[in-house]
Amino acid sequence: MRNLVINKPLLSLTAKNLSLLFAIFLFLTIAAAEGAERPEFDPQSRFHPAYAEHGMVVSESEYATRAGLDVLREGGNAIDAAVTVGFTMAVTYPRAGNLGGGGFMLIYLPGTKEAAAIDYREKAPLAARNEMYLDEKGGADVEKSRQGIIASGVPGTVAGLALALDKYGTITLERALRPAIGLAENGFPVDEELIRSLTRVKERMKASPESMKIFFKEGGSSYAPGERLIQKDLAWTLRRIAESGPDAFYEGTVAERISGFMSENGGLITKKDLASYEALVREPVRGTYRGYDIYSMPPPSSGGVLLIEMLNMLERFPLASYGHNSARAIHVMAECMKLAYADRAEYLGDPDFVDVPVARLISKEYARGLSARIDPESPAPSDKIHPGGKPPREGGNTTHFSVIDKWGNAVSNTYTLNFNYGSGITVPGTGILLNNEMDDFSITPGTPNAYGLTGGEHNALAPGKRMLSSMTPTIVLRDGKPFLITGSVGGSLIITTVLQVLTNVIDFGMNVAEATYAVRVHHQRLPDELRTESGLSADTIKLLSEMGYSIVTGDTMGSAQSIVKIGGYIYGATDPRRPGGLAEGY
Ligand code: DON
Repeated sequence: MRNLVINKPLLSLTAKNLSLLFAIFLFLTIAAAEGAERPEFDPQSRFHPAYAEHGMVVSESEYATRAGLDVLREGGNAIDAAVTVGFTMAVTYPRAGNLGGGGFMLIYLPGTKEAAAIDYREKAPLAARNEMYLDEKGGADVEKSRQGIIASGVPGTVAGLALALDKYGTITLERALRPAIGLAENGFPVDEELIRSLTRVKERMKASPESMKIFFKEGGSSYAPGERLIQKDLAWTLRRIAESGPDAFYEGTVAERISGFMSENGGLITKKDLASYEALVREPVRGTYRGYDIYSMPPPSSGGVLLIEMLNMLERFPLASYGHNSARAIHVMAECMKLAYADRAEYLGDPDFVDVPVARLISKEYARGLSARIDPESPAPSDKIHPGGKPPREGGNTTHFSVIDKWGNAVSNTYTLNFNYGSGITVPGTGILLNNEMDDFSITPGTPNAYGLTGGEHNALAPGKRMLSSMTPTIVLRDGKPFLITGSVGGSLIITTVLQVLTNVIDFGMNVAEATYAVRVHHQRLPDELRTESGLSADTIKLLSEMGYSIVTGDTMGSAQSIVKIGGYIYGATDPRRPGGLAEGY
């Protein structure tokens, strides 16, 4: 299903009383659909999801979705398809798909009830020191953590994807890389969105002649829609990996090119950093929400812990009876968000370096105490909220994809370079764009990162440490089987976007397309503002303002790529907030 154009104002028509009846009706419809006929989502009355019977891939790149689907059709499993999608997006979605970044992959295998969280987050290079990212006055110098060559952490993507395939896949690395190599070697036609995203980062990219050479034409002009973007050096790198495995990236000629470029240009990543990088298999964090089992990403992502913490609090409120996006529902959600993001700043960091009280944070008992602090009528007093920085508009970019196969195996993967095209710097002769993930450390306590997130000791920079993330690849089970596979982009907005996809499906009975398209809200405690997308009703905004919220209506939030499986049928939706995605099954 290509993006549907949504008529945003329609979304604001939902009246409180009608939405309650609607929610009950939809909930019953979905419940009745278990094992029954496939429910028809008539586009005349409901947003229409993609559907299939065997397997599905949902990603932000149509090339990647098709490449993954080919693998499923050939008999590969969800992990095979996901790894193929991951490598393909490094070519076709270079603003976030990557070899030079990192991320997280969550896997659930219903046959063995095995769940695995693959952590391939970047690490601080061994030579990295906090002082390198400060200005003369000792404050954080964001130019250094976001723009230059020292902004890059040691990349984890190749190790992570290779580990996933090795441990849970069935195809060869060569097969998984084949579509990526073909698309890099022969190119693919660029679309308006790719051109637009490149134009936005052009100034930044000028610092890297290699990037300009690849992503712009001679003389620095942009590609026109339909012209082919060919990435010969990236094809070379991908072929090395196909031939020699991930060692080609971490120890072979590719590693030499990366470390050589670093040492010539004042960068930090050395041969030793690359050779010692390891992707890890961690235990997912687990919770429950209104009878569903939630699996999500543990630290060094804050995503899973915060998601479960918020769900545990929300479970104590009859959200469905408040009505979707009613002032009351938004108020309760915003207060839960504020409390959870306060914990993020205090407690979350790389568990290999600091003690993260995960069990306590995701316990129902802890949520009971926190939710008792929520005043049902008004926001927490603002004198308890400290001023924080505003997230800048120059944005990050990440990408999420979800996969399910005919056996019900599910993969939920989010990975990133941090900003659009990361640091904008390409390592010569490799086609590898480098991330600017060092900005996700709390360079100085209380200084917000690019997403306005603050932190302290727990997320302080240390050599070899993984910077804290918000990526939240999530799998929800019903009766032991994957029911909802989701995740999003959006920096700090990722966690609340995923939260709302879940509540839209579970509490408000929406189908996956409706759950994806519905207007989102976000609060991260600092700055003290309730962000909303346009489309929230004026009445709701008035009620929330009267309660005391400072409301900022602005850009869209996140881009979720989700799959729901009900009664043997698979439904999927790519987010219309970003063009170019594709949800397709077979
Ligand atoms: O790991 C993180 O939380 C961030 N580096 C993710 C960046 C991001 O999602 C930007 N997307 N829009």
